[in-house]
Amino acid sequence: MDQPATYTRAMIFLGIESSCDETGVALIEAGAERIPRLRGQALYSQIDMHRAYGGVVPELASRDHIRRVLPLTREVMRDAQAELRDIDMIAFTRGPGLAGALLVGAGVACALGAALGRPVLGVHHLEGHLLSPFLSADPPTFPFVALLVSGGHTQLMRVDDVGAYTLLGETIDDAAGEAFDKSAKLLGLGYPGGPALAELATRGDPARFDLPRPMLRSGDLSFSFAGLKTAVMVTLRKLGPSPSAQDHADLAASTQAAIVDVLTRKSLAALQSTGLTRLVVAGGVGANTMLRTRLGEQAARWYFTLHYPELALCTDNGAMIALAAAMRWQRHTADARVDHDFNVRPRWPLGAP
Ligand code: KG4
Ligand code: ZN
Repeated sequence: MDQPATYTRAMIFLGIESSCDETGVALIEAGAERIPRLRGQALYSQIDMHRAYGGVVPELASRDHIRRVLPLTREVMRDAQAELRDIDMIAFTRGPGLAGALLVGAGVACALGAALGRPVLGVHHLEGHLLSPFLSADPPTFPFVALLVSGGHTQLMRVDDVGAYTLLGETIDDAAGEAFDKSAKLLGLGYPGGPALAELATRGDPARFDLPRPMLRSGDLSFSFAGLKTAVMVTLRKLGPSPSAQDHADLAASTQAAIVDVLTRKSLAALQSTGLTRLVVAGGVGANTMLRTRLGEQAARWYFTLHYPELALCTDNGAMIALAAAMRWQRHTADARVDHDFNVRPRWPLGAP
């Protein structure tokens, strides 16, 4: 949707995220030039529901998105003191993610678009993550390197502008978040394992177990984390039938150190190979304190700047989806649809047409 030449008022974007286990809805306001502003957001995490199963159950996730999405939308509109008719464009996560879960957001977005007579835009989930630091107090400027670290993805991207993404490297097997979650499971910690493992690690010795740091010398920017959970399993076995609480804490700390070490060194290599001096870190694992500390040390040493989303926007949320739509609209690249014929893309590489 092109912005009119005589554009005067701000545009309002509704964003709906429902790709996995969080229902997020948010309202973003954007002018033609300024960085978009968050007017309101609401989030419902299904973590408690999935915890009993040790992971996300797709069918339960879809059903819960259906229950939450309209009450959350009402909440956002009320908090932002806005009416549905004020919305100019509706954005939803088209993919990647769980098909049934994505369809909930897509269905609601298209129904709202049809009812209000507004265009609808399907947004790539990872584009939302990597643009999310633009809502922070210290937004980056283009170009930058983005480290995307979530439960499903581990990628280094070169980002030249909105929509101009070049993949520099990604995991060949497990994602960093998956490595946290699977190791946490082996240590008897609940779902999601990342925050629980990080918490246990604060009481442990990261140097006690020498865990593998795969692909550090691969000469490229690929990652591999599948071997780490095997190493954690073997270490646990060696500790015997009843490891102490300290053993567990030391193993958690050593696991976190291995993951953080690889992410830090590969990010540095990406900055060096591109010659860029800004690093954006986004996705759930970006909330990890040790990762932030290590990257901060390297940033001071090598003179690059670090940009994170606000902590509340590190994990999945609706604000990043509305933001991606707003930034696309500002650049006249929001290819929004008005026919409201919706589809989702559970598998969708960023940058693919
Ligand atoms: O981006 P996200 O919310 O959802 C996906 O799109 O996957 O990321 C979730 C992932 C999970 O694997 C979770 O364990 C991890 O992020 N995570 C963390 C931390 N907080 C969330 N991992 C390590 N330390 C944390 N503090
Ligand atoms: Zn995510």
